[in-house]
Amino acid sequence: MKKIIIAIDGHSSTGKSTLAKQLAASLNYIHVDSGAMYRAVTLFGLKEGLISETHFDVNALISAVQTLQMEFKTNENQTTALFLNGSEVSSEIRSMTVSNFVSQVAAIPEIRIRLVEAQRQMGAKKGIVMDGRDIGTVVFPNAELKIFMTASAETRAKRRFEELFKNGQHVDYDAVLANIKSRDFKDSTRKKSPLKQAKDALVLDNSALTQSEQFDLVLGWINAKCQE
Ligand code: CDP
Repeated sequence: MKKIIIAIDGHSSTGKSTLAKQLAASLNYIHVDSGAMYRAVTLFGLKEGLISETHFDVNALISAVQTLQMEFKTNENQTTALFLNGSEVSSEIRSMTVSNFVSQVAAIPEIRIRLVEAQRQMGAKKGIVMDGRDIGTVVFPNAELKIFMTASAETRAKRRFEELFKNGQHVDYDAVLANIKSRDFKDSTRKKSPLKQAKDALVLDNSALTQSEQFDLVLGWINAKCQE
């Protein structure tokens, strides 16, 4: 079967990465979680003191992103993980502190240009599933299959709360819901590459779908695209 590019965009915590991972594993494709890259830049900024409650050094972040090394590699659990300057950061980048600053970092045009360039290189050979906010609109406008995922804010907050809880992060549900709503707003209203549905994207509202129902539905879409 021919290899295609699958672009998955949508609101935060709709399960884009979970679906992308399942698809990549079953099709033997590469999976790239582009949000993890914006999160890694944010984590670096926090660690280096470029970002704090009272301070946000845009210029230093822009210089830092030019030299940061980001690589998706298989870790010891045989799952694809993001390595930042050689160290795995998969769980650190999911913290609430990173979530609270990431949309501000992702709104910086120079940072987007750098990360989009890296993302396009990763997809040069096709056979890739990439998830994010601007994959079908900006990164791969010619992707063969574009999916736009959505679900109610409450459903998404519940899922994210459970994920954080499982990872030992005991946070307040209302704080998670507030973060989701605030990121929806920031991501959809920013000037550079706002989150919006590509005209040719297929909408996947998974508020009432199980993971396996969703997976079967999307596999059907892929088969149809690969036969075109
Ligand atoms: O996992 P979740 O859906 O909550 O978010 P994520 O995919 O990890 O992305 C974190 C943040 O990065 C988003 O809220 C966006 O602000 C930003 N992002 C972006 O601007 N463009 C992308 N292609 C991916 C993420």
